[in-house]
Amino acid sequence: MTAANGIRLVLFGPPGAGKGTQAQLLRESLGIEHVSSGDLFRHHLSNGTELGELARGYMNRGELVPDEVTIGMVIDRISDIGDADGFMLDGFPRNTTQAEALEAALGERDQRLDRVVHIQVEDSELIRRLSNRYVCRACQRPFARDPETGVPPAKCVYCPDGGDIYQRDDDTEAAVANRLSIYHQETAPVLEFYRQRGLLADIPGERSIDAVHHSVLRILDTAGAGAVSKS
Ligand code: AP5
Ligand code: MG
Repeated sequence: MTAANGIRLVLFGPPGAGKGTQAQLLRESLGIEHVSSGDLFRHHLSNGTELGELARGYMNRGELVPDEVTIGMVIDRISDIGDADGFMLDGFPRNTTQAEALEAALGERDQRLDRVVHIQVEDSELIRRLSNRYVCRACQRPFARDPETGVPPAKCVYCPDGGDIYQRDDDTEAAVANRLSIYHQETAPVLEFYRQRGLLADIPGERSIDAVHHSVLRILDTAGAGAVSKS
């Protein structure tokens, strides 16, 4: 068993880079709490909350949900996590305003990020992945169609009762094109914010899921305060 004490990590990358996929693997291997802004919004959507209704239109068009809503939701969520537990953020921050708000909120608790892991994948591969992606409604774990048969999994193999598998409403061709364009315009500049702080680690993401996972583990082994310890 491996544990990461209090590591604070951002999984960064374009839509379809594999942030959710890698987060699930890290949660299993290191026991780090996974905080996905997209999953939080989808949870609100499926519960029919006011916040979910507000986010729906932005998400379906592939646009960013306004900062006034998003920042408070994510900061509240990480405030619930104990110092010793650490967390990995997936899908947040997505612009410089969010990155600054996160830095300020952590600073108020005398905390800082340990690493920002940037998973690099070309747009053509992202489009291929997102058009083949299916997600479990219960645990949000992403799956792909079988490359040989083109058939998606019938049920989630990880949920005890086999959660329903569905395609996200924002994985349409038009929404994916918009998400990629917004990533390049608004989100990619955040990379420079973290490069200047010496936190950024770039990982080539067009390799097997396991190969990417091993690269992330190697990076976390050198991540300072939250160093990965094996037991
Ligand atoms: P969010 O849910 O965060 O979506 P996203 O960033 O567009 O990313 P995805 O979840 O699509 O991709 P992923 O990187 O997790 O890839 P995955 O592991 O699934 O956000 C959705 C929306 O919510 C946003 O558009 C916005 O409206 C709103 N929102 C969220 N956060 C916000 C914020 N901070 N501010 C404002 N608005 C916000 O993998 C994809 C597929 O590829 C899967 O099928 C997987 O099996 C496959 N795959 C993964 N790795 C590999 C590999 N190495 N090789 C081959 N296939 C792979
Ligand atoms: Mg995801």
